[in-house]
Amino acid sequence: MRALVTGAASGIGRATARRVAEDAAARGEQASVLLVDLQAEALDAAVGELTRDGVDAHGLALDLARSDAGEVAVTTAVDVLGGLDAVVSNAGIRGSGRLVDVSLEDYDRTFAVNTRPTWLLAKAASAHLEAARGAFVAVASIASVEPASPEGAYAASKAAVAMLVRQLAYEWGPAGVRCNCVSPGAVHTGMSLKAFSDPDLKARYAAQVPLRRVGDPAELAAVIAFLLGPGASYVTGQNLVVDGGMQTALLPLVKSALSR
Ligand code: NAI
Repeated sequence: MRALVTGAASGIGRATARRVAEDAAARGEQASVLLVDLQAEALDAAVGELTRDGVDAHGLALDLARSDAGEVAVTTAVDVLGGLDAVVSNAGIRGSGRLVDVSLEDYDRTFAVNTRPTWLLAKAASAHLEAARGAFVAVASIASVEPASPEGAYAASKAAVAMLVRQLAYEWGPAGVRCNCVSPGAVHTGMSLKAFSDPDLKARYAAQVPLRRVGDPAELAAVIAFLLGPGASYVTGQNLVVDGGMQTALLPLVKSALSR
């Protein structure tokens, strides 16, 4: 499997690059991965770690908010990997503030990083994925289906990702290219580090999750790799929420808050 993974210097993307390579190797396939990220140093570390473990891993330092980001990432992947079977559009940033307060600059930046690259990558990779009858996964968020106070622009940017994925699944279906979305709940990564490095806060958060813990990046990586792989050969256009059951707890949480 020849795979391109964005946001791969950290968290879910880094775990996904590893898992995709491991699953391909377990199927007896050659595995090559291009890791794309803004943070050059962390990217080098991630590529180095995979290389030491025998994975054919390559890095591309790139700001995905650039208007040519899809073209640059896909051209590099095809050059370096010799083609493309899988794309994971995962890089993301948090938004800040209520939707009614957020600045135009923050709103645009949130969509430029969280939403537009999924479209640009899909557009640039389309012919290659069709040639390989490959698969595409975008990482959205539980905020793609539930409002995320106080991150209004973030939620809207992720909801748009989920619909981009459905639209792409419809357009690509006849060519045999599958396209799905994974929506994490709370996962301990670089993005959530500030909150979850406080053990008390992490424990209080975990207590609200039906599975009673925060997720690990490897658990998201396993689902993304499954959706890219042959086990998901009839799955397309889905938005799979991977949240330890958090979504099921929303109404009970409101009720318990009222009874306090
Ligand atoms: P992370 O912060 O560990 O990883 C995100 C990566 O994206 C970083 O390596 C960062 O450098 C990269 N990135 C950010 N902006 C970029 C840009 N303009 N160009 C290139 N790379 C850029 O966070 P995590 O949690 O692994 O995030 C992965 C995805 O999961 C994101 O899309 C995030 O919104 C989503 N997610 C994470 C949740 C969590 O609790 N950690 C919950 C819901 C969704």
